[in-house]
This record gives sequence, C-alpha cells and structure tokens, in this order.
Amino acid sequence: MSELWDAEAPTFDDDPDHGLRDPQTRAAWLDLLTSHLPPAPARVADLGSGTGTVSVLLAEAGYTVDGVDFSPAMVERARAKAGDRTDVTFTVADAALPPLSEGAYDAVLCRHVLWALPDPAAALEQWVALLQPGGRLLLVEGSWHSGVGLTGAQTTGLVGETGRTAELQALTDPVYWGREIDDERYLVVSR
Ligand SMILES: C[S@@+](CC[C@H](N)C(=O)[O-])C[C@H]1O[C@@H](n2cnc3c(N)ncnc32)[C@H](O)[C@@H]1O
Repeated sequence: MSELWDAEAPTFDDDPDHGLRDPQTRAAWLDLLTSHLPPAPARVADLGSGTGTVSVLLAEAGYTVDGVDFSPAMVERARAKAGDRTDVTFTVADAALPPLSEGAYDAVLCRHVLWALPDPAAALEQWVALLQPGGRLLLVEGSWHSGVGLTGAQTTGLVGETGRTAELQALTDPVYWGREIDDERYLVVSR
C-alpha cells in the first residue's frame, strides 16, 4: 500500500491544499490549526505526515513536531523540506501504530489519513494514548466526490467511541482548497 503513496509523492505538493504554496492558503491552514492547537511551544504528532508541509508549517510557528508516514518517498521529501531544522522529525512507520512515546504529546494531528486506515477505531485508541492529560486531537478528513473518505458523522462517532469529545467544523471556504468544493470536508477537534 505504501508503494501507491510513493508513486504520489513527486506530484503530491502540486495540489493547493497539499503544497500550501499560495500564501493565502498557507495562512488559512496555519490560522485554522493554531486556533485549535495548544499555544506554541507545544509537542505535536503529525500522523501520515506526507511531504511534511503541515509539520514544517507548525515547526515554523514554534511547535516541535514528530511526523510519521509509511511511504519512504513521502518522508524523503518531508526531510528535504525540513532541511536542517531540529524542531521537526520524520519517521517511516505505520501511522496506525506510531513508534512515538505514550503520553508525550500536547496534540495529535492527522490530515487526510484516518479514512485510509484498515481499522480507524483501533488507530484512534493508539493516538489518544499519545496525548498528555488535556491534550488535543485534530482530525482533518472528508467524504470526497471520488467516493472515498469518512463523513463528519462517522468521524465524530469514531472519536466518541474513545470516550472523548468531538467538535465538527465544516471547511467549506475555498481558501483551504484553492477552489470551490461541493463535497464534505471538515475538521474534528477533540479536547
Ligand atoms: C492524502 S496524504 C496526506 C498527507 C499529509 N497529512 C497532508 O495533509 O498533506 C496521505 C498520507 O498518509 C500516508 N499513509 C496512509 N496510510 C498510512 C499508514 N497506515 N501509515 C503511515 N502513513 C500512511 C500516505 O503515505 C500519505 O503520505
């Protein structure tokens, strides 16, 4: 399965919401995420970190970020993007069983990955265990016109099964995607 993502890696950042190359799109994602994350400095796990765009964005904002992704080609690009920064790391591993310290994170972030996991409920149990008491879980997901994904109701239901709160925020503003959208895209925040 990681081979499929390896093949996506060279062009992954071409999508506006992936590479965040447009300054307005980049600023919108930074504002959105930092409005729900604990204030920096804080420790964030970015699970399924892809080419590292969001991890590096948060590191630039003062967070310490550990990214995990099972695609070596994605991680290679993420490490290149991070350059010689010491506040962001990337590990090649399964995000469903992240090799990160339990209870060590102020926040766990996952953007567009939960839907692709074989057992999202089991993964969420692992992710919640990474959090310090009072830590936050941020899940950016969607139910896309391509027919894949998770609805907001499915994701809030999965988070609810862990015994945590789940607050759903629709992400309808085209600024996040570089165009108008007509499918369901959202952020779920669990405090
Ligand atoms: C749609 S991309 C999202 C990347 C990044 N989170 C972002 O928002 O730009 C999905 C990423 O999840 C990774 N991925 C999918 N399943 C995974 C798994 N089981 N373990 C680790 N990474 C996984 C893929 O390699 C890919 O980099």
